Amino acid sequence: MAEEKPGLKSSSSIVPCFLFVELVIMAGTVLLAYYFEYTDTFPVHVQGFFCYDKAFSKPYPGPEHSSKVPPVLVYSLVTAIPTLTILMGELMVFFLKAGSTQEKTIVTADCCYFNPLFRRIVRFLGVYSFGLFTTSIFANAGQVVTGNQTPHFLSACLPNYTALGCQSAMQYITERRACTGNPLLVASARKSFPSKDAALSVYSAVYTVMYVTLVSRTKGTRLAKPTVSLTLLCLAMLVGVVRVAEYRNHWSDVLAGFFTGAAIAIFLVTCVINNFQHVPPPPPPVRPQRPESVLGVPMVSLPCVESPLEKLHGDHHSLRSHDHQPYRFPATPDVLIPSRSISSEV
Ligand SMILES: *[C@@H]1O[C@H](CO)[C@@H](O)[C@H](O)[C@H]1NC(C)=O
Repeated sequence: MAEEKPGLKSSSSIVPCFLFVELVIMAGTVLLAYYFEYTDTFPVHVQGFFCYDKAFSKPYPGPEHSSKVPPVLVYSLVTAIPTLTILMGELMVFFLKAGSTQEKTIVTADCCYFNPLFRRIVRFLGVYSFGLFTTSIFANAGQVVTGNQTPHFLSACLPNYTALGCQSAMQYITERRACTGNPLLVASARKSFPSKDAALSVYSAVYTVMYVTLVSRTKGTRLAKPTVSLTLLCLAMLVGVVRVAEYRNHWSDVLAGFFTGAAIAIFLVTCVINNFQHVPPPPPPVRPQRPESVLGVPMVSLPCVESPLEKLHGDHHSLRSHDHQPYRFPATPDVLIPSRSISSEV
């Protein structure tokens, strides 16, 4: 990682790292999401139900694509809105502050130049799509493991109450072949908790909102940023409301989906890409340790108190280390006094 020119960074490790670590993880995530979504590799847990249970007796709302918010619409919006926002935002940031980019251009083996614009776009969109697939995996795994039924479960299941011997509503049916309806509909009616559409839309909205809020520093956007943010969040909430209104999910499913999506987005933005900043924050400065054996004090980890002195007196480290140890007063009382006087000046 030798610096050659200011603004240019040479790295021979970024391409192999990118190929062999990031892409392998990404491919694994996509494969897992695919297996959850389009195959029955992971069979859904079969839960029993109460005869005539009112919570699951809503009418069948029709297949997913006849919904007011069909999955195709959700998936395309969830892909398109953040992609366009990040592309536009990065182009604006790049051309407005082209002179002061802090990100370095990476030169690898004289063949490839990755400019900061390209690196930022790849990073933010890559992390975004990773999170999208992760959210999908979380939601699908939750649905398969819990096997909670949708509100229209009994309308899809069509149990033969006479054959099952249901006299009262308090009777619990655990029989696996209780359903006489279309097996595909029954299987999808067993997948409800958490709501995947709600999770994906809130994930997408929170990621985009954090991008817009944290990256845009343009003057005169005091109302534009909250408008965009609240619109996106409102659209995501609407997806959940429609899911409940169409009897495709319960409120608890939608809330759990919201929580999952928001938590993944916040985690990725704050912990993985450092709030869309240009450079990762520098490591915390290591405080020079006074040799403890000289004073004969056991090594204890003292609470590290940030004081204004840290920045002012780089050469007073030995004095400052006494600030936190007033009980060692008799050791060097004469050194302690100038230290106190400095802190009262500041
Ligand atoms: C329900 O089960 C009873 C008894 O096994 C049978 O006579 C009846 O035809 C069944 N009804 C339907 C709709 O399958």
